[in-house]
Amino acid sequence: MATIAQPNAPPANLDPIERRRYVWEFPVRLSHWVNAIAIGVLFLTGLFIASPVAAPNGEAYNHFLMGKIRLLHFAFAYALVVGIAIRVYWFFVGNNYARSGFPFFWRRSWYKAVFGQVVEYTHLERGHINIGHNSLAGISYVAFFAMCGFEGVTGFALYGESNPGGFWDKLVGWTTPLLGGSFRVHMWHHLVAWLIVVFVVLHLYIAIYDSVLYKNGIVDSIIAGPKFYEPGDHDADKWIS
Ligand code: HEM
Ligand code: HEM
Repeated sequence: MATIAQPNAPPANLDPIERRRYVWEFPVRLSHWVNAIAIGVLFLTGLFIASPVAAPNGEAYNHFLMGKIRLLHFAFAYALVVGIAIRVYWFFVGNNYARSGFPFFWRRSWYKAVFGQVVEYTHLERGHINIGHNSLAGISYVAFFAMCGFEGVTGFALYGESNPGGFWDKLVGWTTPLLGGSFRVHMWHHLVAWLIVVFVVLHLYIAIYDSVLYKNGIVDSIIAGPKFYEPGDHDADKWIS
């Protein structure tokens, strides 16, 4: 019987414990899961705010359903702000992996790295592996944080509408005339919510794809911290790599 090649199998001669590297420090993992939970709750409560499908019988003050859903939306909006603030702070003070995957869009080598990563993903080969984030992952995370920034600004502008002249209205209320009125702020806030869902779907697919292909404990690493590496894997040994 013909032997089937196993291009994805890591070399067996290395001790798994020796191949362990502590990559994601606690604040990175904490912010990841705070953000992931917040995005889930914000998306679901946001959909309800847009189309309140449940209309309980009786007096509104007895159930206060929309009020509770909005409260959840705002509470998790603050959680997302805190989660992202922790991550931004850790970008500057954390280990080199906290800065890995940063998009050097002004350098040719960055475009080459992104293109190379796309090509590698299209071949079912292990290729070279980044112990931190690869360049493609890095740009997708920057896009994610930018979309969260947009949702934060438009969301707090909408929130500020209930208190004209208040803190949020003064801080981000300018978005409403800029985007062409309250309706359009709702529309963009809603549209970008779906773009975040697109990111999440691709992110989950690639995280699982990488974990199967690389066998380096990538999914576990965002929970526990360490990844497995092998000689030849790209390390984030410079400020950003
Ligand atoms: C709404 C859900 C999620 C969002 C918005 C999200 C977002 C992110 C972001 C922004 C990062 C970059 C981490 C950083 O450097 O700060 C990341 C990394 C990561 N996430 Fe998620 N995530 C979500 C759910 C999940 C789930 C459910 C899993 C597990 C299957 C997962 C697995 C990972 C892994 C393995 C990494 C590290 C990837 C690498 O080493 O490059 N994520 N995620
Ligand atoms: C980060 C801070 C955020 C704040 C302060 C915020 C706040 C708000 C506010 C005030 C509304 C309008 C409620 C109304 O109609 O009166 C709203 C609606 C909504 N939010 Fe957010 N939000 C935030 C983030 C997000 C995120 C990250 C998502 C999705 C992932 C999201 C999804 C939605 C959706 C789908 C709607 C319904 C929009 C519509 O069709 O009118 N929000 N949000």
